[in-house]
Amino acid sequence: MNFEIKYKDARGRLGVLKTPHGNIKTPALMPVIHPGKQTIDVKEYGAEIVITNAYLIYKNEDLRGIAETKGVHKLINFDGPIMTDSGSFQLSTYGDVQVTNKQIIEFQEKIGTDIGTSLDIPTPPSVKRRRAEKELEITLQRAEESLEVRKDLMLNSVVQGSTYPDLRSKCADILGKMDFQLHPIGAVVPLMESYRYRELVEVVMASVTHLPDSRPRHLMGAGHPMIFALAVAMGCDLFDSAAYILYAEAERLLMPNGTLKLENLHEMPCSCEVCTNYTPDELRQMEKSERVELLARHNLMISFAEIRQIRQAIIDGSLWELVEQRCRAHPFLLEALRSLKNYQEDFDKYDPPYKKSAFFYSGPESLNRPEVFRHLKRMHRISPAKTVLLLPRSSKPYSEHLNDISQGFYHIGGKSNGVMPKFEEMQITVVDVPFGIIPLELDQVYPLAQNESPEHFDEDSIVSVNEILHDYVKSFDEIIISEEVVETFRLKKTFTMGELFQFPEPLKIMVNDHKRIKMIADYQFGAGAGEDLFNKEMNIVKSRKTGKIRHVYDEEELIATLRASDGVFVLAREGARRLHKFLPYPKNRVVVNEDAEPFAREGKSIFAKFVINCDIDIHAKDEVLIVNEQDQLLAFGKSILNGKEIHDFKTGQAVKTRKGGF
Ligand code: GUN
Ligand code: ZN
Repeated sequence: MNFEIKYKDARGRLGVLKTPHGNIKTPALMPVIHPGKQTIDVKEYGAEIVITNAYLIYKNEDLRGIAETKGVHKLINFDGPIMTDSGSFQLSTYGDVQVTNKQIIEFQEKIGTDIGTSLDIPTPPSVKRRRAEKELEITLQRAEESLEVRKDLMLNSVVQGSTYPDLRSKCADILGKMDFQLHPIGAVVPLMESYRYRELVEVVMASVTHLPDSRPRHLMGAGHPMIFALAVAMGCDLFDSAAYILYAEAERLLMPNGTLKLENLHEMPCSCEVCTNYTPDELRQMEKSERVELLARHNLMISFAEIRQIRQAIIDGSLWELVEQRCRAHPFLLEALRSLKNYQEDFDKYDPPYKKSAFFYSGPESLNRPEVFRHLKRMHRISPAKTVLLLPRSSKPYSEHLNDISQGFYHIGGKSNGVMPKFEEMQITVVDVPFGIIPLELDQVYPLAQNESPEHFDEDSIVSVNEILHDYVKSFDEIIISEEVVETFRLKKTFTMGELFQFPEPLKIMVNDHKRIKMIADYQFGAGAGEDLFNKEMNIVKSRKTGKIRHVYDEEELIATLRASDGVFVLAREGARRLHKFLPYPKNRVVVNEDAEPFAREGKSIFAKFVINCDIDIHAKDEVLIVNEQDQLLAFGKSILNGKEIHDFKTGQAVKTRKGGF
């Protein structure tokens, strides 16, 4: 195993890939180096790894001679990690190649490549199913053969299957069980060249959801920075760029939001050294070779800048925002973004529930983000009251700004019996975009407090809120709803309203602290967790500065601390003990083997290789219980990976332990 994940956002991973010639950060861009023709030193631009073509070297006697005697690193003058492709691309372009799979694997090993590739068949999109199946058979046979032939070489195994999602998934399943180190996703160049991004999403998602999480995925032939963010958000880790030179030769400038033709430019579009030192006229008037080189340098700088921005976004937890911006560059990218809605359940599993940055609404597509899906799912963990009072949004946190509500109210479905319910018995819930329904008790929990959306709602948001409300009100006997909410979301169109009425006195909005801590615990750990953690009158300590709840004690014993940044609980030892007692095995647990037990008890962090089982539903950043095989509590901590990833990884940290000592 050569791959470790450090940070996650969406399905994206910031990681480290280990190779014989050093470690590289992912997501990474691998510039394509043309053996024998390269003039630009790509290392200057941030390349930590490059890709070149073993078949082109193999076919050329001079290049082959140098590679076989001095090695590929000397041949292309690059001392970092080198990946080589096998000639499959030539196979797809020219119909055949003069090398066998076995020969090209042996050759790649011989010339000292770090990562080699077998001779897969890049089946184009939209071919007849029969052809896709037959070619996939050959690709799989060759993959198997490549494992028999290689000695120490790290191996790529390419996912094929044309535009048939089930074939892609099947291929990924089979390859994932074999001993490969990386998985490119192949034959996507034709999709990208013809802007078929929605189908690209289908192909990539069908592949990554069936590949092991512990291996990097390479979106083969993807060199346009416009699609990097989207691809990373789907779980791709590596890109290769021949685009930087091919576009330069065609007098085009790559930009993160599209392509510019030099012939149309009056102004240079960016702040790189090429764009600041030359005018479009100067570039147009110079020698072709000089111009191409300068444009290629711009293209490299822009591409690496985009990769760096993506890595930063993963650390910040703002990758979705970046993807939403990038996908507005082309209508078909927007369509691709919209199609991510089909994978909400999968994204929910990978996307960390707590992030450093706020959720910014950028348009109706934001309604389909995993945060919204997850919130609505977690709302089912909260036990219903008899009556719900639905109020309009205010500044956040809502409970501190909803003063003196004196407007009119409606009953949904007619006034029940004329007796006003007791105020303390009502569930007060704010209706807002994009999360729909926010019980006041949760108004400081991430991302319900940490989000921004425009004051005026768009049509999709109004429809979405109507749908959410229809589902939500089912669990109450009585629904009272403010006139403002009814008007804002045009609820009279989809609900039957009773008569408008007024409460005898203006409502004073307050949240009961005990209800608050219990509801947060239910929402965070599961239905009933609040009652088990906080089973009697608790000693609640608030921050003197902000007035917000900080610590919850049972008499003198600390149970949990409410983290100020995202409003969720961090367990203390007694809290972990109670949760362990309450939640049935293997819920919220990471099970470690005997060897790791003493380390866990000492409070040392948990490495994935010591984990023998875990709750598959754990999210990255969840509070988790560390137990042994007998389900004895050893320690507790914060998960770095999700349940599926913990199962799959054999290297790197799985859990940052907070405390051991049990
Ligand atoms: N380069 C671009 N697409 C492909 C592909 O499908 N397979 C291989 N081996 N190389 C590629
Ligand atoms: Zn530039």
